Amino acid sequence: MDSLPAPPVVVRSQADSEPLRALLARHGSPLLVLDPDIIRQRYQALTAALPGVKLYFAIKANPHPSVLSTLAALGSGFDIATSGEIDLLKAERVSPERCIHTHPIKRDQDIRDALRFGCTTFVVDNLSEIAKFSPYRKRVGLLLRVSFPNPDSPVDLSRKFGCTPEQVVALAEQADALGLHVKGLSFHAGSQCLSPENHQLAIARCAELMLDYNRRHERPFSILDIGGGFPVPYGVDTPTITDFCQPLRAALAALPPHFTVLAEPGRFLVAEAGTAITTVIGTAERPGGPWYYLDDGVYDLFSGRIYDHATYPLEVFSDDAKRLPSTLAGPTCDSIDVVAEQVALPPLEIGDIVVGRVMGAYTNASATDFNLFPRARVVVTESA
Ligand SMILES: Cc1ncc(COP(=O)(O)O)c(C=O)c1O
Repeated sequence: MDSLPAPPVVVRSQADSEPLRALLARHGSPLLVLDPDIIRQRYQALTAALPGVKLYFAIKANPHPSVLSTLAALGSGFDIATSGEIDLLKAERVSPERCIHTHPIKRDQDIRDALRFGCTTFVVDNLSEIAKFSPYRKRVGLLLRVSFPNPDSPVDLSRKFGCTPEQVVALAEQADALGLHVKGLSFHAGSQCLSPENHQLAIARCAELMLDYNRRHERPFSILDIGGGFPVPYGVDTPTITDFCQPLRAALAALPPHFTVLAEPGRFLVAEAGTAITTVIGTAERPGGPWYYLDDGVYDLFSGRIYDHATYPLEVFSDDAKRLPSTLAGPTCDSIDVVAEQVALPPLEIGDIVVGRVMGAYTNASATDFNLFPRARVVVTESA
């Protein structure tokens, strides 16, 4: 935890906490409040920033049914990675034509579950995975995931998956020899990218590879999936989605008009729709300053501090002008369960609330039951 940057903290007046206290009085603490209207706004913003690009929401970012139903009503597609995610879409009556299966490593059972659902587009990244589709060759189209490492992004999604650009032609030819059609390429340029450069370079390289391949092969590539990675404001300077996507649009112009372009946004569509409301349940004076123990920590909504390397903007409510270097900790017995260390806070008391903003992505999705503290309840409201 020490290496994580301290979160930005805003101190607001006690009176400002009233609407949030009213939610806690009604639903209990801790809470994750989801605002579907913000999801709608973000979907429209990304659609406008990437005209002609079909969006497939990466369910892993937040699989809550209200998120799925909100996006389904907007006409969004869905990026699925597991049979559990398929079950969620079935419950929402989402048609399988609106889905792609993007997990590069699958068991035969995963493939059969997806095919039974009706999903026929799958991502692969090596020959062993391609071979798994041999029995289903007449029913599937494949996308080949290419790795473009992005060590500067907080979450480098090309470390674990993806073939090298140099392997693309051989893998597509090997698939072809097995009677399987590789319809296009996909990549993930890294999550929470603050610069569009990696996307831009990856698009340009994929376009070059696909156009070159199409000149020499009968079964052509015609799909490019540009993955996710679109950034949200966690308190540092973040480009607007229009500015971020402008160079991507320019790079996509290299593709012929009949190509289909897809994206798999997760974080961008849901992060700002989520607000965590937690309560101080204990206080202690320690040598470095006061510690405040919250009823939620890194094993629940703040799990993204660990897994997602995220630093959420925090809000506390006080009319006291005093500020002391303070620590906010989660409720479990584990000492890694610390949300923020040495942040300047006014004195807090048991019963005070601490709010985390931009907490709708990779928060409840990666929560655990460690220590059996109850997980935060998810409440859906249009007016959080
Ligand atoms: C295959 C795939 N697609 C899309 C996403 C969503 O990425 P982001 O939340 O950065 O938009 C992820 C994130 O892990 C992913 O693994």
